[in-house]
Amino acid sequence: AALLASSIPKVQQSQRASNQFQPQASFKVAVLGAAGGIGQPLALLIKMSPLVSALHLYDIANVKGVAADLSHCNTPSQVLDFTGPLELANCLKGVDVVVIPAGVPRKPGMTRDDLFNINANIVKSLVEAVADNAPNAFIHIISNPVNSTVPIAAEVLKQKGVYDPKKLFGVTTLDVVRANTFVAQQKNLKLVDVDVPVIGGHAGITILPLLSKTRPSVTFTDEEVEQLTVRIQNAGTEVVEAKAGAGSATLSMAYAAARFVESSLRALDGDGEVYECSFVQSELTELPFFASRVELGKKGVEAVISADLHRLTEYEAKALEALKPELKASIEKGVAFVEKRA
Ligand code: NAI
Repeated sequence: AALLASSIPKVQQSQRASNQFQPQASFKVAVLGAAGGIGQPLALLIKMSPLVSALHLYDIANVKGVAADLSHCNTPSQVLDFTGPLELANCLKGVDVVVIPAGVPRKPGMTRDDLFNINANIVKSLVEAVADNAPNAFIHIISNPVNSTVPIAAEVLKQKGVYDPKKLFGVTTLDVVRANTFVAQQKNLKLVDVDVPVIGGHAGITILPLLSKTRPSVTFTDEEVEQLTVRIQNAGTEVVEAKAGAGSATLSMAYAAARFVESSLRALDGDGEVYECSFVQSELTELPFFASRVELGKKGVEAVISADLHRLTEYEAKALEALKPELKASIEKGVAFVEKRA
């Protein structure tokens, strides 16, 4: 989980030991939308990972300079740039993890669903290329609205005959990162120890932090639960408003996405006990997709963790029921979008 803390010393270690034989994990990661507000800092953080041997950066514009710049960092991975649809296939061949932050971000007054019309098409065309060129890769969808873009990706992969539900992830890590930060601040806890599972989806009331399941165990007043839940749900909007038209969360998002990439790579590398929250195909509720903690392994989702949903507080149980109609509608909107174009 502690990407920055853990990766820098490992890189330095491997450089010191460069004349000894030391098997290095060597995964290839592609970022689609790599020249954007999220894409650039995310690419930088992935460049710091000792688990990555190749970093493929794709965008429709401005990616050459980003790659040239990053390629000067003396960390193991080789950085390659790819511009425009004609270079997309080559970008994707042989990659283990594809991260997709391509698309437009929110401006003040917009909901994530307002991005649907533009981003749905972008995600659809990018995932078609992933299906054709990297059908076994883990796919991390960041582009909003995640509640719809993940079902879109699933439908595209099904049409292409390569859908593996264990390898398709909606990135909700930022909700967990925010929940951990806000709870640690509020309760004066050591930040690194705090872990709050966040379930449901990734928009407004569909984001449901399970504060009663916070580790280490901590008690909240009813007022604290209400205030923290609403703050976590609206944290994205807090950033959109502060940026006043210049976009949405990019730096904290890149940090969160890099953590999810690092966890995926550790799982691919055979590490055990790798857990993250993610929006995945799920049987935890009656909804076909649902965010919860999942255990990651070499083949993707090893297990969807149901324990967090047991013994919910009354507040959480009510909020869970309240989010279902909105999440269901967003999922169905994504599915219908692909069916209409089939
Ligand atoms: P941005 O506008 O700064 O960057 C987007 C990049 O995507 C640009 O470089 C653009 O050229 C590129 N792009 C557009 N169409 C493309 C295509 N067809 N193929 C490849 N690249 C393409 O936006 P930013 O701030 O990086 O946000 C990206 C997305 O991430 C937005 O949809 C935003 O809503 C979402 N987001 C998701 C979060 C989450 O928690 N899952 C949190 C924050 C943002």
